[in-house]
Amino acid sequence: MNINDFYNFKKGKERFSMITCYDYTFARIIAEADIDCVLVGDSLAMVMYGYGSTIKATMDMMKMHTRAVKNGIKNKKMIIADMPFMSFRTDKYTAAKNASELVMAGADAVKLEGVDGHEDVVEYIIKSGIPVMGHLGLTPQYIKLFGGYSIRGRDKKAAQKIMNDALRLERLGCFSIVIECVPEILASEITKKIKIPTIGIGSGRETDGQVLVLQDMLGLFPDPPSFVKQYLNLSNDVKLALNRYTKEIKGR
Ligand code: KIV
Repeated sequence: MNINDFYNFKKGKERFSMITCYDYTFARIIAEADIDCVLVGDSLAMVMYGYGSTIKATMDMMKMHTRAVKNGIKNKKMIIADMPFMSFRTDKYTAAKNASELVMAGADAVKLEGVDGHEDVVEYIIKSGIPVMGHLGLTPQYIKLFGGYSIRGRDKKAAQKIMNDALRLERLGCFSIVIECVPEILASEITKKIKIPTIGIGSGRETDGQVLVLQDMLGLFPDPPSFVKQYLNLSNDVKLALNRYTKEIKGR
């Protein structure tokens, strides 16, 4: 999959899947699976490091994990890497340098949360040759401002603002937009209105693609968000295997 496939998915109305990945071992498995594209999300701050929010992700963390994922994925899937908290709320040259470091680490595109106040940055990164994925709705880097992880865009004014932001990101040249935790009806309206693909998470079934955090859908993370569908309960299986191993050792 490359950037053109995103547009083709939209044109052909074919749905696509994106999954987060942060390490080499899982990247090798994902490389052989039917998943369409991979996100090295700043959620790694929570999932891999145990921090309480994504704002603890740094450029160094994002680069290191992007490298590990690239080593496992090779050229088999498109890799999108998150630009971490504040790494793009700078002048456009510094932001583009940060984006380029993620590309050098193995990313094919970067994802940026929000749009207010960094329109010039989005445009400049794209004009520098780096595709940008937008991210609207519940943008976790704004969690201190939002005061919690609740659904965004519930009332008319808030919904209109998210719709306008999606149109703005499309105009700026983004190739797709993640829409996190908004009502299904809003995600559906945005999907119909914009020409670039939408990728939903906790926003219902009507988006062009879907994304989940790998550890959440595998049942590896103890307290996933309530909207997450778990496809396995791997933490149980891992515990069982560890206990069997320990039992065998103790029984010689
Ligand atoms: O960081 C992340 O994992 C994300 C997805 C949940 C969209 O941004």
